[in-house]
Amino acid sequence: MATTTDSLAHPPAREAARRAPSAVPPHGGRLVDRAAPADRLADEIARAASLPTLRLDARALSDLHLVAVGGFSPLEGFLGRADYESVVRSMRLASGVFFPMPITLGAPREWVRGLGGAREIALADEAGEPAGLLELDEAFEPDRVAEAREVYRTLDEAHPGVAPLLAKRGELALGGRVTLLRAPRPRFPEHHRDPAALRALFAERGWRRVVAFQTRNPVHRAHEYLLRSALETVDGLVIHPIVGETKGDDVPAGVRVRCYEVLLERYFPRGRALLSVYPAAMRYAGPREALLHAVARQNYGFSHFIVGRDHAGVGDYYGTYDAQRIFDELAPGDLAITPIFFEHSFYCRGCGGVASLKTCPHEASERLQLSGTRVRELLTRGQGLPEEFTRPEVAAVLGEAYRARGAS
Ligand code: ADX
Repeated sequence: MATTTDSLAHPPAREAARRAPSAVPPHGGRLVDRAAPADRLADEIARAASLPTLRLDARALSDLHLVAVGGFSPLEGFLGRADYESVVRSMRLASGVFFPMPITLGAPREWVRGLGGAREIALADEAGEPAGLLELDEAFEPDRVAEAREVYRTLDEAHPGVAPLLAKRGELALGGRVTLLRAPRPRFPEHHRDPAALRALFAERGWRRVVAFQTRNPVHRAHEYLLRSALETVDGLVIHPIVGETKGDDVPAGVRVRCYEVLLERYFPRGRALLSVYPAAMRYAGPREALLHAVARQNYGFSHFIVGRDHAGVGDYYGTYDAQRIFDELAPGDLAITPIFFEHSFYCRGCGGVASLKTCPHEASERLQLSGTRVRELLTRGQGLPEEFTRPEVAAVLGEAYRARGAS
């Protein structure tokens, strides 16, 4: 038979539109590229060796990388004081451009004192290898307490984003433009695409409307419901999990990536959905981080971004829909990416499928809801996860990971 699923899925009238590149501009209008040009790389690395060197931790390295490849466009480096204070207070750079979370580089006060008048420093990775350069504009003392209060909405040091922040109290922050000398080795090379590469892929596939799904958890049926619902209205879907630093009790990225792979392989059409990783560190800042996630996904070329219940939240620091409400604070034109909001979703026996608070008329007793803690408990005890909660293929990946961990 001549009719393919693909031609059914793309009525000819949409063909022309499909071939045009993404209509979504990078935030600030231009995709930042701060990688050292190939023909100058060797010289720059040699020069770095003669500069005062600051060794970065995994989080700072990931920020350097994201800035350099344009994931945090329009940032070209780490924030100076005026931008920092403005972003913390009012989610805008000093220029007035919307930017929701400060991206800063901490350095010990004593080390900065020892710099004398140096205007340029080398940035090294955790092994001491050159990773980048910083054109040092200023060193300033950030008000980390104000940052925690405004950005994280709490000063509680039990909060996994606030703890590392307040631990840096007393450190200075170094502001200035960066140059990337060497990108961190991708953890999942087969799923790694910088913003320019993902934009090119969307153009090649003719995807104009593409939705990003941020996640830091193994994928379950409620997630899948969001994915399917969103995909109905766009050309393509990308599971875009965060794979930088996450808190210790989150499921490791390697295990999660296998979960996303099996879900996509078994339950989504290859030509419509793919996996691509987002190498940022998780901050758990709830509403403010939802906005940062949206900015970054716009830079990667997405037109739409899923925001469900308690996005980027942790514990009960944020209200269930705070991360959706904060989008109301934006002015028209602040962002070109469109958030797609979802209510709390779950498997409901009465509905006979996954539904949400918006679509399900049944009693709570009909709904299957498992907290992350309960899921970990079941897995630790070697018990399976119910099929209504997660696909058996995903449950198998998780079960195996927990068994291997128990055995080690
Ligand atoms: S997050 O920290 O990345 O937000 P998680 O991986 O659990 O955590 O969530 C990924 C996305 O799915 C977020 O947009 C979140 O709001 C949404 N989400 C997770 N679980 C549900 C659910 N049961 N109902 C609706 N949305 C959900």
